[in-house]
Amino acid sequence: AEPRALPRDLEGLRIVVSAGGTREPLDPVRYLGNRSSGKQGYALARVAAQRGAEVTLVAGHTAELPVPAGAGLRRVSSAEEMRVAVRQAAGTADVVVMAAAVADFRPATHADYKIKKSDDQPDPLITLERNADILAELVANRGPRQTIVGFAAETGDQDGSVLDHARAKLKRKGCDLLVVNAVGEGRAFEVEDNAGWLLSADGAERPIPLGSKSQLAATVWDAVADFIHR
Ligand code: CTP
Ligand code: CA
Repeated sequence: AEPRALPRDLEGLRIVVSAGGTREPLDPVRYLGNRSSGKQGYALARVAAQRGAEVTLVAGHTAELPVPAGAGLRRVSSAEEMRVAVRQAAGTADVVVMAAAVADFRPATHADYKIKKSDDQPDPLITLERNADILAELVANRGPRQTIVGFAAETGDQDGSVLDHARAKLKRKGCDLLVVNAVGEGRAFEVEDNAGWLLSADGAERPIPLGSKSQLAATVWDAVADFIHR
C-alpha cells in the first residue's frame, strides 16, 4: 500500500531507465554474466511512471520481476544490444538513467559451436575485449537539456573514502547525477550510516538514507526534478 499519493512532478518527461545485467556470449550455450537483479532499475521505472513520466525500461537479465505498470519494456541480452536499445530510446528522452550492470568486457571471440574439451588440445583461454561505455557515449552525444544519471557501487580503500571515489567517478563520467551505493564495510576512518550518496555535477551532495529500493528511487527522482528545474 502506498503511504501517500505521489506527486505528478515528472509529467511530460520522457525517461529511459536501464536495468539488470548483461550477458556476454562465449558460445551458443555459455556466457559471462553478473549477479544484478534489476530491482533498483525496475523500482526507478515504476516510481517514475507513478509520478507521471513516460517511461521506457531497457532491461537486461533480471530476477523475475513484475513489469512496472505504465512503462514500456525493451528486453536485451548483451552489452552491445543494450547500447543499441538505450541509444535509440535516448534520442528523444529528457532523462536517461543507467542503472544497468553493463559488462565492462566481452569475450574477444564468439564460437559458433559449443566449445568442447579435448585431451589432445590445450584448454582454452578466454581473451576479453572492452565493451563500449554506454554512459560515456550518452554524455558525449547528449541532446540539449537532457539529464543523464549514472550509478556506481564503491567501497572505501587506502586511496580514499566512498565519497572520494564517487566524486572522482562523477567527474570522469561527466554525467549530471551519480547515485553511489556504499558497498560493504568501509574502513575505520569512514563513518557512514547511510546507504550511499547522490552527487550532482553542480556540487550538491546528499546522503541516501538506508531504505527500500522504492525509497531510493524517490530520492533519485526528487534530485532529477530539482536538477531539471534548477
Ligand atoms: N556503464 C555503462 N557502460 C559500460 C559500463 C558501465 O553505461 N560499459 C555505466 C553503468 O550503467 C553505471 C556507470 O556506467 O551507470 C558506472 O559504472 P561502473 O561500473 O561503476 O563504472 P566503470 O566506469 O565501469 O568503472 P569500474 O572500473 O569501477 O567498473
Ligand atoms: Ca564497470
